Amino acid sequence: MKAIVVTDEAAGTAGMRLAERPDPEPALNDVVVQVHASGFVPTELAWPSTWTDRLGRDRTPSIPGHELAGVVTALGYGTTGLSVGQRVFGLTDWTRDGTLAEYVAVEARNLAPLPGDVDFIVGASLPISGLTAWQGLFEHGRLQTGQSVLVHGAAGAVGSMVTQLAREFGAYVIGTGRAADRQKALDFGAQEFVDLENDALEAVGGVDLVFDVIGGVIGKRSAGLIRAGGVLVSVVGPPEVRPADGLAIDFVVMPDRAQLGEIVRRVRDGRLRTHIGTVADLDDAVSALNPTERITGKTIIRAHS
Ligand SMILES: NC(=O)c1ccc[n+]([C@@H]2O[C@H](COP(=O)([O-])OP(=O)(O)OC[C@H]3O[C@@H](n4cnc5c(N)ncnc54)[C@H](OP(=O)(O)O)[C@@H]3O)[C@@H](O)[C@H]2O)c1
Repeated sequence: MKAIVVTDEAAGTAGMRLAERPDPEPALNDVVVQVHASGFVPTELAWPSTWTDRLGRDRTPSIPGHELAGVVTALGYGTTGLSVGQRVFGLTDWTRDGTLAEYVAVEARNLAPLPGDVDFIVGASLPISGLTAWQGLFEHGRLQTGQSVLVHGAAGAVGSMVTQLAREFGAYVIGTGRAADRQKALDFGAQEFVDLENDALEAVGGVDLVFDVIGGVIGKRSAGLIRAGGVLVSVVGPPEVRPADGLAIDFVVMPDRAQLGEIVRRVRDGRLRTHIGTVADLDDAVSALNPTERITGKTIIRAHS
């Protein structure tokens, strides 16, 4: 099969190349999925799981990409819950070959059915950003109706999901980002916007929850904005500064079939919009994933149509 592979950690996305790889075999409880569309988070090339297995052994050449929508073509021994020919979407294991390929083997429990009226491209854009937003707000952040949420990068893939879900849940949402993203963040439902390049972040006053997708100085300054009993939720590593009287949590998104179901239900009834930027075929994936200009929205790679 055709796949994007990486072998050189230092090269980042520039080290990606299109290659021929063996078709994956389903292990116990796996399904093999014919990938129709795949998402990709550029930072995954900086994670150890791209380069080594769980015992730290070199697993290159590895296939990046860990979210997909496609059709089940084979079941492993003992696999239940999904069947051959079923449309599915979901998050795949970080330490196994990923989804920038024509086929991928993945544990069936990591996937959820993709309804027939949801496009594969939309389906592939949902798992990482949708599950990250859901888990950060409701599991780790324990958001309550009426609380205020500061969403960094509110026009980005994760931030736009966080903004929409927090609004639906009855929170007051302040989005942040670059000046050019103001309107997009407001369109996703932010009630205020802080331009991180020109406005004073501290002017927002106190908030109950900060959802940080940026980290660094922005993350450190955010800790001081958390009200007593509030939470700083980070998806970019452990917060360097903790709120004086609140919690600081960092987490890595987990597969969850029920939550995928909640997310796709909202896409179907119009409560959630995804933010898709570029769509490219697998043959053009290397250039699409190495843009020469600033792009917004998720890049989705099509492997079958
Ligand atoms: N822990 C987890 O499980 C998990 C899951 C998903 C994502 N993540 C991480 O979360 C981060 C965001 O992912 P994403 O897919 O949402 O990326 P994204 O679509 O690029 O969104 C990030 C947004 O924040 C903006 N931004 C970044 N730095 C900024 C700064 N200094 N000032 C103002 N705006 C800034 C970006 O603008 P520009 O594009 O102009 O920089 C973009 O609009 C990534 O680091 C990713 O690895 C972690």
